[in-house]
Amino acid sequence: MSRYESDIEQAITHIRLEGLSKTYSGGQGVVHALDDIDLNIRRGEIFGIIGRSGAGKSSLIRTLNRLEQPSSGRVRIDGVDIGQLDEDQLVTLRRRVGMIFQHFNLLSAKTVWDNVALPLRVAGTRPFEIERRVSELLQLVGLSDKRDVYPAQLSGGQKQRVGIARALVHEPQILLCDEATSALDPESTQAILALLRDINCRLGLTIVLITHEMEVIHEICQRVGVLERGRVVEEGPVWQVFGDPQHEVTRTLLGTRQHDLPEDLVGRIRPQAENEHSLFLLDLHFTGASLREPDLLAIAQALGPRSRLVHGGIDRIQGRALGHLLVGVDGREPRAAILERARGLADHVGGLGYVAAA
Ligand SMILES: Nc1ncnc2c1ncn2[C@@H]1O[C@H](COP(=O)(O)OP(=O)(O)OP(=O)(O)O)[C@@H](O)[C@H]1O
Ligand SMILES: [Mg+2]
Repeated sequence: MSRYESDIEQAITHIRLEGLSKTYSGGQGVVHALDDIDLNIRRGEIFGIIGRSGAGKSSLIRTLNRLEQPSSGRVRIDGVDIGQLDEDQLVTLRRRVGMIFQHFNLLSAKTVWDNVALPLRVAGTRPFEIERRVSELLQLVGLSDKRDVYPAQLSGGQKQRVGIARALVHEPQILLCDEATSALDPESTQAILALLRDINCRLGLTIVLITHEMEVIHEICQRVGVLERGRVVEEGPVWQVFGDPQHEVTRTLLGTRQHDLPEDLVGRIRPQAENEHSLFLLDLHFTGASLREPDLLAIAQALGPRSRLVHGGIDRIQGRALGHLLVGVDGREPRAAILERARGLADHVGGLGYVAAA
């Protein structure tokens, strides 16, 4: 990175993790939950964190508002090392960093209005100001008509809306979401994601989001980091990490989005009858690195007029087309010649990988 690039990176960084480690020592011995993590999260972005269970995601997000104290390393927010804050400054920090949870953490004996108002009451905010702020927030999350209702009378999606309103009472600059949609059905998940996107745009909040649902990352994050055994093994724009995952763990996590050779095609590679010839299956992988959509004419010209699309799909992430297309090419041709033509195609269209699928 040049000096110029690093100056820019510094200017756009909101949260910076430097050599962050967290070790727990308990009944089951020592656990290195976070292991020397360096990571920059940019102002105003939605940054996703994925990883297997136990990878350290919750530990990481909890260091960002000092719910968890790192064993070593630093968390800087706007350049300030939050490990150095005294009690009063910590209270201010926690107001600047809102958080929402998988199980909402609402007080069941209090109404929606009281749940949202409580942090303001604790902070000694004046009643008319509380009234104004809570009404405004309930309107933002679409719950104005539920102000006097108790959490038990709400759906999961509505409970999470209350959680979001409560997290926003102190007008935070950062919102942390730990599996915020994991307890919700697909429809409520979509609605909550739309709300988070809206809040991100309207209020300019930086959002750090943990999830095990790849769709959630796909839907609203700009960048993503992959955590494995307490280390960041891969990070980058979502289109890049999802389009061309480099690490084994990322591939496993994306498993359902990846492409497998369908059973029936395995049989069709070899001729099934005397008069049938074999298919050579070529897996074209569009990584999204090129901003152009897959060009069917270019594929046909490169691979021959008899080539057929037999399987696959193109997805759109952040305005880029990426995915796999399995193309059946006339298998009587020498394999090397087909691969040579695939190479020519890749040189021509850009952002394209290819591999013999069988
Ligand atoms: N308070 C604690 N005391 C001891 N060990 C802990 C504690 N909290 C977490 N751990 C351990 O640290 C590791 C990371 O845990 P963490 O909760 O951060 O994982 P996670 O990625 O959030 O997992 P999940 O997807 O299951 O929520 C795990 O091995 C966990 O058992
Ligand atoms: Mg967790």
